[in-house]
Amino acid sequence: MADHNTTFIIHPGGTLQGPVRVPGDKSISHRAVMLGALADGETEVHGFLEGEDSLATLRAFRAMGVEVEGPRDGHLRIRGAGLDGLRAPPGPLDLGNSGTSMRLLAGILAAQPFDSVLQGDASLSRRPMARITHPLARMGARIETAPGGTPPLRIHGGRRLQGIDYVMPVASAQVKSCLLLAGLYAEGRTCVTEPAPTRDHTERMLASFGCEVLREAGRICVAGGGRLRATAIEVPGDISSAAFFMVGAAITPGAEVCLTGVGINPTRTGVVNILRAMGASLDIENERMAGGEPVGDIRVRASRLRGIVIPRDQVPLAIDEFPALFIAAACAEGETVLQGAAELRVKESDRIQVMADGLRALGVDARPTDDGMVIRGGRLGGGCVDSHGDHRIAMAFAMAGLRADGIIEIRDCANVATSFPGFVELARHAGLQINVMQSGKGSCTRPTSGTAMERSPREHSPPVITPPVITIDGPGGSGKGTVSRLLARRLGWHFLDSGALYRLVALAARHHDVALDDAAGLARLARNLDVRFEEDSDLDDVCIYLDGREVTGALREESCGEAASQVAALAPVREALLDRQRTFCRPPGLVADGRDMGTVVFPHAALKIFLTASAGERARRRYKQLKDKGMDVRLDSLLREIEARDARDRGRRHAPLKPAPDAVHIDTTSLTVEDVVARILALWRERSARASVPV
Ligand code: S3P
Repeated sequence: MADHNTTFIIHPGGTLQGPVRVPGDKSISHRAVMLGALADGETEVHGFLEGEDSLATLRAFRAMGVEVEGPRDGHLRIRGAGLDGLRAPPGPLDLGNSGTSMRLLAGILAAQPFDSVLQGDASLSRRPMARITHPLARMGARIETAPGGTPPLRIHGGRRLQGIDYVMPVASAQVKSCLLLAGLYAEGRTCVTEPAPTRDHTERMLASFGCEVLREAGRICVAGGGRLRATAIEVPGDISSAAFFMVGAAITPGAEVCLTGVGINPTRTGVVNILRAMGASLDIENERMAGGEPVGDIRVRASRLRGIVIPRDQVPLAIDEFPALFIAAACAEGETVLQGAAELRVKESDRIQVMADGLRALGVDARPTDDGMVIRGGRLGGGCVDSHGDHRIAMAFAMAGLRADGIIEIRDCANVATSFPGFVELARHAGLQINVMQSGKGSCTRPTSGTAMERSPREHSPPVITPPVITIDGPGGSGKGTVSRLLARRLGWHFLDSGALYRLVALAARHHDVALDDAAGLARLARNLDVRFEEDSDLDDVCIYLDGREVTGALREESCGEAASQVAALAPVREALLDRQRTFCRPPGLVADGRDMGTVVFPHAALKIFLTASAGERARRRYKQLKDKGMDVRLDSLLREIEARDARDRGRRHAPLKPAPDAVHIDTTSLTVEDVVARILALWRERSARASVPV
């Protein structure tokens, strides 16, 4: 189950460009597994969403004896058990965060000869289930819920179901689908009338499996006693995932994306209609049919958006897209009004309240109402937002970072994997400046340490990443290595020598014959570095191993430093080392030494130091170090090398050597190492006392 520690950090200045292919549709993926499992014969599925929600459905059917090969690259082969072939699961079926799994499965399980229990995570355990258990009871099912009609569901087997004619009080595709699936087992006809059109994937897919589905003006009927025939299913890209990129591109000056192969079933395109009504430039190209569903490429360009009153008939057609649409509204001119969307209060979170709280934290005028929200568009600032574990809220605020003028920190984002595995990588690839941190558990209002957010325009609860980090950046010879190591020892914290990582890449390049200008090859090496840092308490030093061989000495050679400086200028290499560097951030704290620690790798560090010293002094220090090792060096050539290295480090396009805006500068030219360490320790004590954190 997802933990609560994943935090997204979005830096301003990003964009979205290029073609983007979002993963498979979640709703269709669930249904493909369910109908494939109940069919006679083998069903092949392509484009299956390998997200936690649809995988929960898959696990449930495996637990009931259905054989499935895959998923492998979105491909599944399901050996259908037939409508009567499911076996009693060995224990409760855990459906994680997935409401669709639970509600649709309940319809199937209500008709089985065996008992079953459906349970889920904390969010799913709060969601209303009476909307399905009541009509299922009318069909003859026996299901117990927790008090208040919430999960777990205890479903009694061996019941004979009767077809009913049900008028749904809420427009819900999950309720409709649950009853239609139960209807496959019921005596006679089961009909569902919906108050407004909702997604019709179940009806379409039942038809593809050879089931006769009667559809007339808002009423859908199936008859019991038939069979399902295995078929091939092509799952299109999920428009609900594409929606984040649509909004992101629409609100970002200069942006343009083409979302390829997205499902554009008219019961799902509310987001397209609403964005167009707001003035978005949005074209659908290359329309085609795939596996019984319409598909197209959606091109979206930056646009001037204006606030609108959202037509009520669009609400069920965009029910999952409101978190993203609220961000569009926050960037639009004027007021956007949403009414008739009380359903949003019972999704993975209360999406009205949680979105309103998040927007307000960014300085937006957002007023929640019982069944919607009124948002006045304007400036978006930086700040800290709690997603309450809701995947769509996390992704919506990630896109807000494209327009915000400060950093946005989004808490509790692990559940993004329920619907959109690979979101971070895809968004980053398209140009969003997004980083992921494993931060301290807790909401934005419960900071544990830290300082005000870099470049954040207004006061807000401090963005806190625990454990605390002190960054020490500066040019070579400024003393940062010695100072950082000593500081880490005094504090009893971990130590990251980021320069060593670049040196290791340079050395690995030498070992594997990779040229120093082969950015892709070097990035690959960087990602796969097999390194081990071992503390040697006798020598009071760290021994470094590359591919199992000790390389501590080789790393310190001048030629290795030279090569490292070239390698470090390559963006793909820096990118490849980012996550590895961040893994050093472990309790009780980290001292990180490098050139972009405070600006790029740990922008939220609790304390940032920028050390300098005159080039002459740095050359003298280096000269002494090398002479002490018995090496034959010349002071004037060392000075020239230092100046050339400075110019390269400062001038490189990606993550150049520069102080973070909130760094404390210390000129070490006439200071001893002890002086510098004492100064930094005093600064840290003062900061942590202010933030009332124990040092
Ligand atoms: C879904 C239906 C929608 C949607 C959910 C998936 C489905 O819920 O919010 O994410 O796959 O049937 P309701 O139509 O029940 O509101």
